[in-house]
Amino acid sequence: MPLKPIAPAARAAFGRRLRAWYRRNHRDLPWRKTRDPYRVLVSELMLQQTQVSRVLEFYARFIERFPTMQHLADARPKRVMESWEGLGYYARARNLHKLARHVTREGGPGALPSEPTELRKLPGIGAYTAGAVASFAYEKRAALVDTNVARVLSRVFAPKLNPKRPRDLKKLWVIAEQTLPRTGKTAWTQNQALMELGALVCTARLKRCDECPLARMCKSAE
Ligand code: ADE
Repeated sequence: MPLKPIAPAARAAFGRRLRAWYRRNHRDLPWRKTRDPYRVLVSELMLQQTQVSRVLEFYARFIERFPTMQHLADARPKRVMESWEGLGYYARARNLHKLARHVTREGGPGALPSEPTELRKLPGIGAYTAGAVASFAYEKRAALVDTNVARVLSRVFAPKLNPKRPRDLKKLWVIAEQTLPRTGKTAWTQNQALMELGALVCTARLKRCDECPLARMCKSAE
C-alpha cells in the first residue's frame, strides 16, 4: 500500500514538540559536543550494537589513543583491535581501520565525505551511519533510521509497518525524509531528539506515553 504523505501541520507539530522535549531532557554525551566527522563516526560505530553507558568508557579511551583519522590510519591493526576489546562485533573495528587507511592514503579523499551517497561507498558504512555522519558532523539535512528511530516513527505515524521487514523499513525512511525540518542545523537537533526519545521514553520494552511529547499525535499512544 502506498504511504499517505504526512500533512504539513502534523510535520511541523511533530518537529516542534520533539525538539522542545530534547532541549529539556537530553543527556550530555561527548559526541554531541563535537562536529569532528572522525569522532562522530567512531561514536556511531560503537553505538550500533552497544549501549551508551558502555560506549562512554571505550569512546574516551579510543579517542585518547587515536585522536585523529591519521593517528588511526598509522596504528598497527593489533593496537586498534585491542582498543575495541570488550565492545564486540570486531568487524566494526576492522572496517574503521580500513576506512581510515583508505581516506588518508595518497590520492585518497583526505577527509570523510559529507554526502550520504559518498559515505556509503566506504567500508562498513551503511545507510544509517552515512546519515548520522552527514547530519551529526556536517549538519547536512540528512535522514537517518536505526532501530530506535524506526520504532518511534512507526509508532507515531504508521503502526502497521514492521521495521523488521525491508519493504516497511524503506517506508520508514520515506517518513524520516518527509519529517526532516528545513535546515541542516534543525535536522541535527531533530535527529538527536528522535534517538533520545527512542532511548529514554519510547523504548522497545516500554512505551512511557505519559512522558512523551508526541503522545497527542501518536497513532500508538495508550
Ligand atoms: N545511538 C546512536 N547514535 C546515538 C547518538 N548520537 N546519541 C545517543 N545514542 C545513539
